[in-house]
Amino acid sequence: MNKKLRKAVIAGNWKMNKTPSEAKVLLEEMIPLVKDADCEVIACVPYVDICTAVDTVKGTNIKIGAENCHWEEKGAFTGEISTGMLKELGVEYVVLGHSERRQYFGETDETVNKRTKAVLKAGLKPIVCVGELLWERKCNITEEVVARQIKLDLFDVSAEEVKNVIIAYEPVWAIGTGVTATDDQAEEVCALIRETLAKIYGQEIADGITIQYGGSMNDGNAEALLSKENVDGGLIGGASLVAGKFAAIVSAASK
Ligand code: 13P
Repeated sequence: MNKKLRKAVIAGNWKMNKTPSEAKVLLEEMIPLVKDADCEVIACVPYVDICTAVDTVKGTNIKIGAENCHWEEKGAFTGEISTGMLKELGVEYVVLGHSERRQYFGETDETVNKRTKAVLKAGLKPIVCVGELLWERKCNITEEVVARQIKLDLFDVSAEEVKNVIIAYEPVWAIGTGVTATDDQAEEVCALIRETLAKIYGQEIADGITIQYGGSMNDGNAEALLSKENVDGGLIGGASLVAGKFAAIVSAASK
């Protein structure tokens, strides 16, 4: 019911794949395949691909996102990229707190929170990733883990600001493994995320927030996952690198 109030959002997370020239080829292939989408279509690409990507999708329904950014506006942070830099290039979305950044690059809920606030302040839209490890699921603490991440990552984000936040539920054990959460597992945690958001911001605001599922989502399983009440879209890794597969997921979300 409330699902109808929310626009479905399908975002590709290209991770560390595709050079600028390869990005152009992939996006040109995608453009005609997704042009009639009845959902938001986003490609989150490596920093160096952004200029080419923004240029390639100009005048189409594909939006461009980045895969991370720093929380300070400028300064002595060698190798980092600010929100202002991204904004000037035409980026609209930024993936934050991806499990690969948490696992390999020391990302914590505290730094995800700082980045989230910086992205919102710049007028960009964060896609904040949360999700449990396999052993956390086995220990039956998925609920606590995900609720804690939501509370910490969104600390001090106002009710007005949170309307521009997308949450991506990505169980870490399902990322790049070919193992997808079942529709019911995805729904259970996405519903719990909405409950947590409702406790912080009230039901009406929580009902308006898009919650994506991510983790081995593909052209074969997308329709079933997206049919769930609290699964409003997908954050797609591997399948977003193949135009036909990504377009099939976009079609599933457009139904
Ligand atoms: P896969 O779709 O390759 O499992 O990756 C999911 C993901 O991490 C998206 O952010």
